[in-house]
Amino acid sequence: MGPGDDSRQAASLRAALIRHLLAEGTLHDERVAAAFQAVPRHLFVPQAPLDVAYADDVVLMKRDETGAVISSVSQPSIMALMLEQAAIRPGDRVLEIGSGGYNAALLRELAGPDGAVTTVDIDPEVTDRARASLDEAGYGDVRVVRADGAYGDPAGAPYDRIVVTVTAWDIASAWLRQLRPDGRIVVPLRLRAQTRSIAFDRVGAHLESRSTTLCGFVSMQGAGAHYERTSPFAETGLTYDEDQEHEPRPPEEVLKLPPKRMPSGVHVGREEPLLDLYLWLASTLPGYCVMTGGEWSWVAAATTADSLVYLTTRGRPGDLRVELVCVGHGAGAGRLADQMLAQVRLWDRRLRHGAGPGFQVHAVGAALPPGFHVARRDSCLTVTWAE
Ligand SMILES: C[S@@+](CC[C@H](N)C(=O)[O-])C[C@H]1O[C@@H](n2cnc3c(N)ncnc32)[C@H](O)[C@@H]1O
Repeated sequence: MGPGDDSRQAASLRAALIRHLLAEGTLHDERVAAAFQAVPRHLFVPQAPLDVAYADDVVLMKRDETGAVISSVSQPSIMALMLEQAAIRPGDRVLEIGSGGYNAALLRELAGPDGAVTTVDIDPEVTDRARASLDEAGYGDVRVVRADGAYGDPAGAPYDRIVVTVTAWDIASAWLRQLRPDGRIVVPLRLRAQTRSIAFDRVGAHLESRSTTLCGFVSMQGAGAHYERTSPFAETGLTYDEDQEHEPRPPEEVLKLPPKRMPSGVHVGREEPLLDLYLWLASTLPGYCVMTGGEWSWVAAATTADSLVYLTTRGRPGDLRVELVCVGHGAGAGRLADQMLAQVRLWDRRLRHGAGPGFQVHAVGAALPPGFHVARRDSCLTVTWAE
């Protein structure tokens, strides 16, 4: 097969990928579709065969010494959703945190000849690769900077748009400083063991969310790293955030005590995403955490000094709808399960069919609106719920 056949095949796979994104509802905007059409994704993943380069899947690029993925070229459907959240306009100055080259090229297409794109990555291997691929694909005017993205890139500020493509635990104060007064930042924000890409608009000195979508990204390294910790607990692990430093935990043997099972009376679809419910539980239950491993792949839980409760479902195999059930271990499990069930029922009655959570970000020390407050290192996050 000659080079001409290769590029014809790439163009046809690219068109198929765009049809797939349109059909599954992750791509709606014509300008974003045109950007996907224009950028040859295969040049950014040269090691991958063409069908892999144009699959709607992440392409893994690098692992650390423990085997964890630390760099990838992201999944096209997530990129499409985030680019639509970012609403890049012709002429925008855009900062991307976390490079791969491909998304920077899409941003360059959207910002157009009067705009400018800077992409920052902490890893020199990634910036070298991004530079080479961008040049080869004809995007030599994208600035590629090797730096810790937690500090943004002051040289190119102010930005109309900041697009973060690595999981962040905080809104770095540099991002807020480098964003124009009416600017927008789109960031995969990790909170209580779940990650949402949130589009925030700057409103005066703070940020207000405009849209959110669930997503997954590799974790941020450098100054903004390690906000979450998973501690071994019997054959499982309990995950808390750094701001939950003083949450009480029962002894590990609590899981060997006989379980109390308390049905909620609330039914959900077997495949229904429940992350909003879990965030509601995180907002209202002291000691909220996520239990993973062993027979629990990922369950919402809460702990006190003597008890642990978690939320699971019951139903017969093949049932399309299942009931949420609270399971508790320990002397105070009944009371703790009652608290969890009260919040599950409240969510079902008042929030389940509402707009979902809203988010605001304020600088540390600023006056905060009412809501669930999470103090991070650089900023304070407020979660609010509309019925
Ligand atoms: C999912 S990849 C980015 C994907 C990319 N935007 C694309 O076009 O597909 C995440 C990147 O974030 C980088 N990263 C991690 N921590 C960082 C930090 N503190 N500052 C800048 N980049 C960081 C990693 O090296 C990795 O290359």
